[in-house]
Amino acid sequence: MNEEQRLASQQVNQPKKEDKPEKDYSQYFEKVFTAPSLKDAKKRGKEEIKYHKDFNIAEEFAGMGEGRTFYIRTYGCQMNEHDTEVMAGIFMQLGYTSTEIIEEADVVLLNTCAIRENAENKVFGELGFLLKYKRKNPEMLIGVCGCMSQEESVVNKILKTYPHVDMVFGTHNIHRLPNILKEAYMSKELVIEVWSKEGDVIENLPKKRLGSIKAWVNIMYGCDKFCTYCIVPYTRGKERSRRPEEIIGEVRELAAAGYKEIMLLGQNVNAYGKDFEDMEYRLGDLMDELRKIDIPRIRFTTSHPRDFDDHLIEVLAKGGNLVEHIHLPVQSGSNEVLKIMARKYTREHFLGLVDRIKAAIPGVTLTTDIIVGYPNETEEQFEETLALYREVGFDMAFTYIYSPREGTPAAKMIDNVPEDVKKQRLHRLNAVVQEYSRKALAGLEGEIVEVLVEGTSKRREDVLAGYTRKNRLVNFKAPAELIGQLVSVKIIEATSYSLRGEFVEVVKNEKVEA
Ligand code: 5AD
Ligand code: SF4
Repeated sequence: MNEEQRLASQQVNQPKKEDKPEKDYSQYFEKVFTAPSLKDAKKRGKEEIKYHKDFNIAEEFAGMGEGRTFYIRTYGCQMNEHDTEVMAGIFMQLGYTSTEIIEEADVVLLNTCAIRENAENKVFGELGFLLKYKRKNPEMLIGVCGCMSQEESVVNKILKTYPHVDMVFGTHNIHRLPNILKEAYMSKELVIEVWSKEGDVIENLPKKRLGSIKAWVNIMYGCDKFCTYCIVPYTRGKERSRRPEEIIGEVRELAAAGYKEIMLLGQNVNAYGKDFEDMEYRLGDLMDELRKIDIPRIRFTTSHPRDFDDHLIEVLAKGGNLVEHIHLPVQSGSNEVLKIMARKYTREHFLGLVDRIKAAIPGVTLTTDIIVGYPNETEEQFEETLALYREVGFDMAFTYIYSPREGTPAAKMIDNVPEDVKKQRLHRLNAVVQEYSRKALAGLEGEIVEVLVEGTSKRREDVLAGYTRKNRLVNFKAPAELIGQLVSVKIIEATSYSLRGEFVEVVKNEKVEA
């Protein structure tokens, strides 16, 4: 008998929410049961951004998690991973403990990604699967949060097809997790709290960081670019920057706590500071202050080529803890496609920017994101992308087949590119990506590189793995005590996407000069 048959043969109780007291909790909750709306998201509010510094767990929620466990499954980007850290921090402040065993959890959250259709399909598959656990334990609370919950169509599908889901809450509502949980414990209905209106920046949110070597730090939220294929501006709202003093304070604390690398996060980090009304302060200014903090490495992601200004390049050229690696999504090498994508730059602008970056930061590595098979993309346009890849000589790329997202302008375009042609293009592009990655890595054979050791290799316990400043993966044999340290490694062999080396010595932690 397999697991499914065993469960089916059990006498299972359906969730009996009607047993719970019906009570009006409106006095506790600022109820915002609005359905998410893409139309609303597009109306970018000119409202002032409010900063809240006073997040704390209200008295009424104290001890809510005593004796209860939570499990969060995260899909998608680093922003989502970081949101998971915040939600885990809130759970722990409420008294919950985390569990690695999903079927034993009292609360299960799926922190979802909406960027492509296959990301969404994975979540729907998992939701179907969770029904089994819910049958076994009707008290289990199941929640969907993250980008998918900002989509009207997703919320409707959950209402219709997944009645075992108890909570749906959006990316702007994470700080309301205690309220949402309390409501879910009390209510018979699905608790939906998705604000299509964003606008606030909330500081002092607790965080349960997943690692002790590298840490994520949000510098801004949202995106105002509205590239025609992209769902992010709808799911993450308008651009809002955190104040520099908050970011600098957080990085200082992380440095003092022994973290070795910071990844600054934002959907479009080069727009950092555009929304400040009281000062002229941009990403270059922020990086110039962060480089004075005594921490070995600082990175940022993701850049938009249009907002990448010369001051930022000038600051990055100062080096120190600012690494020589920039992730710079180009998406396409064809001016016609870039225009239809509404990327607001041309191939020539991109190449000019690359030249300026390369001239200012010798040996810099560039990585990128590319979408193939955009609606009506011609063979010639695709070949322009291949040619641009070669011209820039990217180190690595994340490559995707275009996936229509409901509500975005591109989803309405008629598309004459057959699916198998799209797949072939992806295949051809990936061959070029591999060729360049292999070439770049082969050039390192015999060299000594600095590696931040992150852990043991996925395949072998006695092999350690870490990344160079330029984000290249290195495997080498050494004792596990080196995990968390910066070490020198001599590169022996390059494969397509990683390096194999020999441990040389621990790098002395020199202070980064001011
Ligand atoms: N289809 C395919 N790829 C997409 N991306 C964003 N939206 C889509 C989409 N609809 C890719 C872009 C972006 C990366 C994070 O995901 O390349 O840079
Ligand atoms: Fe999406 Fe990035 Fe374009 Fe913003 S800049 S709309 S996040 S692809």
